[in-house]
Amino acid sequence: MTIRRVCVVGGGTMGSGIAHVFAQRGLEAVLVESSSALADKALASIVRNMDRQAAKGTLSAADKEAALKRLSVVTSIEKAAGFSFAVEAVPENLELKKKIFCELEIHAAAGAILATNTSSLSVTEIASAVKDPSRAVGMHFMNPVPVMALVEIIRGLQTSDETHRTVCELAVRLGKTPASARDFPGFVSNRVLMPMLNEAIECLREGVSSREDIDTIMRLGMAHPMGPLQLADYIGLDVCLAIMEVLHQGFGDSKYRPSPLLRQMVRAGRLGVKSGRGFYDYPKK
Ligand code: 3HC
Repeated sequence: MTIRRVCVVGGGTMGSGIAHVFAQRGLEAVLVESSSALADKALASIVRNMDRQAAKGTLSAADKEAALKRLSVVTSIEKAAGFSFAVEAVPENLELKKKIFCELEIHAAAGAILATNTSSLSVTEIASAVKDPSRAVGMHFMNPVPVMALVEIIRGLQTSDETHRTVCELAVRLGKTPASARDFPGFVSNRVLMPMLNEAIECLREGVSSREDIDTIMRLGMAHPMGPLQLADYIGLDVCLAIMEVLHQGFGDSKYRPSPLLRQMVRAGRLGVKSGRGFYDYPKK
């Protein structure tokens, strides 16, 4: 099936970024948000990020206008009906994601592929909500989506070879490199990344080093674009904790135990960039 029209459910940071990239790369993208206020917010953030690309000269004014013409924002999946591909990027709640998959199945074109952008939940379990799980798959984008080159493709237990091949080709159409993983907790990306961030938080908790030095050591010593504490703030400390919990429960191995300091930060509402305070302060601009 040739994919031309796509539906993206959820207009948060990830969903907006995904819709942005689809529209920029020539596909008709319909973004679904739950209210018109959230839909307006999602659209404004896409325009802001496209403006940023235009200012840097990585997106021409004409291409930006054309991309925005291919993008629409609606407030129900029904209004996006007829899509041949959909990706959900709603909060990391298994029941919510299963419900969205059921709704997507009702309004999709025949033969459509349904993808989840889950960062660590079971793709197999989300896919179990639909009649044909062979057309369900994980498509895990990285933040910021317009910038990051990778899409991690996760094969659920029943994902067909054809579905897998189609989404790998789709990732290439988006200018990304696909890399595949099987459906185990955290897949590859977050199984490797999150324990590293958690360990940096443990270094801070134990007083091994200051936050600045921990970040400097990893940024300059390992050539990471951001230090681990800065990256944890950027991802969201609640997201990091939720993924560590999935790893800890999924493998039953104490090496995935979330840092008590990470738990405390989340309990205190210090979630990182989005709450204005995490390991660092982010004053409102
Ligand atoms: N939309 C469009 N463009 C954006 C953007 C956005 N949201 N955010 C940044 N950019 C562009 C900028 O315009 C700039 O473009 P240029 O290279 O053409 O000049 C480029 O990205 C770099 O941005 P800045 O100059 O503002 O800032 P930095 O050089 O500090 O880069 C960064 C910012 C790209 C975020 C970089 O620090 C980085 O790569 N950090 C690591 C990000 C990372 O690891 N992401 C993965 C997180 S894990 C994940 O997503 C999985 C999940 O499941 C948890």
